[in-house]
Amino acid sequence: MSPLALAPAAQDLLFREARTANTFTDEPVTDEQVQAIYDLVKYGPTAFNQSPLRVTLVRSPEARERLVQHMAEGNRAKTATAPLVAILATDHEFHEELPRLVPHAPGIGDTYFSERTVREESALLNGALQAAYFVVGVRAAGLAAGPMTGYDPEGLRKEFLDADHEPLMVVNIGRPGEDAWFPRSPRLPYEDVVTTV
Ligand SMILES: Cc1cc2nc3c(=O)[nH]c(=O)nc-3n(C[C@H](O)[C@H](O)[C@H](O)COP(=O)(O)O)c2cc1C
Repeated sequence: MSPLALAPAAQDLLFREARTANTFTDEPVTDEQVQAIYDLVKYGPTAFNQSPLRVTLVRSPEARERLVQHMAEGNRAKTATAPLVAILATDHEFHEELPRLVPHAPGIGDTYFSERTVREESALLNGALQAAYFVVGVRAAGLAAGPMTGYDPEGLRKEFLDADHEPLMVVNIGRPGEDAWFPRSPRLPYEDVVTTV
């Protein structure tokens, strides 16, 4: 019996056959699809359930143009042509939401997150975790994701965010198009990564 509980087809969809797409078809990605993705992704764990991820969907051609100018040269063509692009950011003021996210422990924000530097560190880790859940969520919808950090973060922040939001990743989303993949790179084997003490 397989040690994995997930059905083999789902293992392939989420991991083995899931690839980072670099080209996309024209098939639109709907708000309903993004909502369904988020409604899975929101259950991924974060520290104290702080949930600092914030998502900006870049849909209009005008906004797409403003985004592309902040992307690294090699990321521009795919960011311009993907059916949908999401800017994933983390909220340094996530503590304001803690009363509704952690209702059983009022005051947790004051106890742990009254200092901005502490919040920034925590938001970076937990936002990055949620960004990873987001990529897997896109795959769960049968779509391909193209995560990218090749951009000017300050430019992106000024254009689309504010001083309280740090960009984590820009993700192209859609069905893979022609020549969508770079060659699959090898992964580190279990023995090189996992130690037991
Ligand atoms: C955080 C992050 C940042 C990345 N930034 C870029 C990028 O700026 N440009 C790009 O072409 N690919 C980028 N990638 C794509 C990775 O190179 C790719 O996901 C990885 O090599 C695995 O490829 P595979 O899914 O096809 O096996 C990024 C991926 C991640 C997760």
